[in-house]
Amino acid sequence: MEMEKLVSLCKRRGFLFQSSEIYGGFNGFWDYGPLGVELKRNVKNAWWSDMVTGHDDLSVAAGAPTTYEMTGLDCTIIMHPQVWKCSGHYDLFHDFMVDCRESQRRYRHDQVRGRWVQAKNQRIFVATVSETSQEQEDVQRRAQKFFNLRAKNIDQLEWDGDFQPLTEISDLDQVLGPDAKSLGTLTEPREFNLMFKTIVGALSGEEGTAFLRPETAQGIFVNFKNVLDSTRVRVPFGIAQTGKSFRNEITPRNFTFRSREFEQMEIEFFCHPDASAEWYRYWRDRRMRWYTELGLSGERLRLREHDADELSHYSTGTADIEYAFPFLPEGEFGELEGIAHRGDFDLRSHMEGKLNPSTNPLELEVDEDGKPVWRGSGKDLTYRDDLSGERYTPHVIEPSAGADRATLAFLCEAYTEDEAPDEKGKMQTRTVMKFHPRVAPIKAAVFPLVKKDGMPEVAREIYSALKPHFNVFYDEKGAVGRRYRRQDEAGTPYCITVDGQTLQDQTVTIRDRDTLEQWRVSIDDCITEVRQRIG
Ligand code: GAP
Repeated sequence: MEMEKLVSLCKRRGFLFQSSEIYGGFNGFWDYGPLGVELKRNVKNAWWSDMVTGHDDLSVAAGAPTTYEMTGLDCTIIMHPQVWKCSGHYDLFHDFMVDCRESQRRYRHDQVRGRWVQAKNQRIFVATVSETSQEQEDVQRRAQKFFNLRAKNIDQLEWDGDFQPLTEISDLDQVLGPDAKSLGTLTEPREFNLMFKTIVGALSGEEGTAFLRPETAQGIFVNFKNVLDSTRVRVPFGIAQTGKSFRNEITPRNFTFRSREFEQMEIEFFCHPDASAEWYRYWRDRRMRWYTELGLSGERLRLREHDADELSHYSTGTADIEYAFPFLPEGEFGELEGIAHRGDFDLRSHMEGKLNPSTNPLELEVDEDGKPVWRGSGKDLTYRDDLSGERYTPHVIEPSAGADRATLAFLCEAYTEDEAPDEKGKMQTRTVMKFHPRVAPIKAAVFPLVKKDGMPEVAREIYSALKPHFNVFYDEKGAVGRRYRRQDEAGTPYCITVDGQTLQDQTVTIRDRDTLEQWRVSIDDCITEVRQRIG
């Protein structure tokens, strides 16, 4: 599937718009349109319902070591600045970036790529931040300009090797920056904190500085004791949260994949240290199953277990659930979700102060005078098992997913072009979004075959009867074939049509989006039929 086609459908049909588009857009920010908002909300609702409200606390879930409880939270986006100091984000949440002295632009070091090229006895590295499909076009155009070559002399450009990341280039003097006209304008890479700063209240300067959260997870850790004290949950249990997170990404790219404002769906699962390896495996497999149950196909989805040398020493396992997004080069996958065994790192950091993640066992990070670099809350975040009497700091398993990335993966997976007959029976190419019915923005559309003979009245009655149960769409405008096509593009799984026969025997046709099969059911059975099929 070509990404351009999906991007254009998303705009044309109201799934996604560039933020502030009438002012030229704002890089790294996206708005969900009328169909997109329903799709993303269905993704978040499916997650919340499958992970939290629909979880059965009393039965052992398939693959789980024991029963467990699940509960939720909704924390603020701006939290006490000390949270980010103790969590490590203030000191460690950095990316390396390079600045261009000529264009004044800033790029993430590992996201600039380029190719060596030689002409007129000079060899240069032409850098680009274009999408993979446009890289070659971009570097060729700029190399041609740099060497001042006419189009007919383009074959004087001698390309040397394939594209490679800027991180592999040691001599920046030979580099033509992504938006530069002369060589050597990029600075050496420097660290850049990804947290957005803001000012709280009337205080200016450091005193009033706070941060927009870069993850929802910390809100859960700092409320661990509140949840224990206000509910009767017992370890093992999980706390879930969905909500906005913000990262000042240097090079937001690939549609919504890397945005500056995005939504996360995170669980912090608290368990006994001795059982944490088993719980890690459970969550890794449970989360992978969730995506396949909602229709992401086996060949584009994979679970990648991190190698031992990629793990923090306090972690016994981390895995990424990855999807082969169409904007990535062939064979590459992008992260949808990470599932990490985090040991007691987070709860201890908020009790004792910022820990040094490279110590084993974990120790407090101290300054030259032996004082903590960042002080913790000093509050007791340990857990006492009231049955065994044992007191310990629970270990944490963290399945951390992105709502926008999951939505994007469902959009990519759904986009299909096939052939279907038009009104005259002639085969035509059709674009159809084959969403799983649970995430489809509209569940059913209701049409009168023609706008006369009492059909609209019956169709409207069916629409009104279905509306309290599902997101249903009524359409009576234009040829019925065209109405089907519009619903195919919106990903509506079922179309219900009132025709001449309806007026005689009170039955309607239901059309399946994917198979194009049509069958008749009585009007009274419509709700049950659609509900059963949506699942
Ligand atoms: N608490 C752990 C954590 O935040 P992460 O791997 O940095 O881990 C988790 O983020 C998930 O959040 C990612 O797998 C991805 O789905 C989503 N995410 C992270 N950065 C993102 C961005 N810039 N744009 C869109 N989604 C992002």
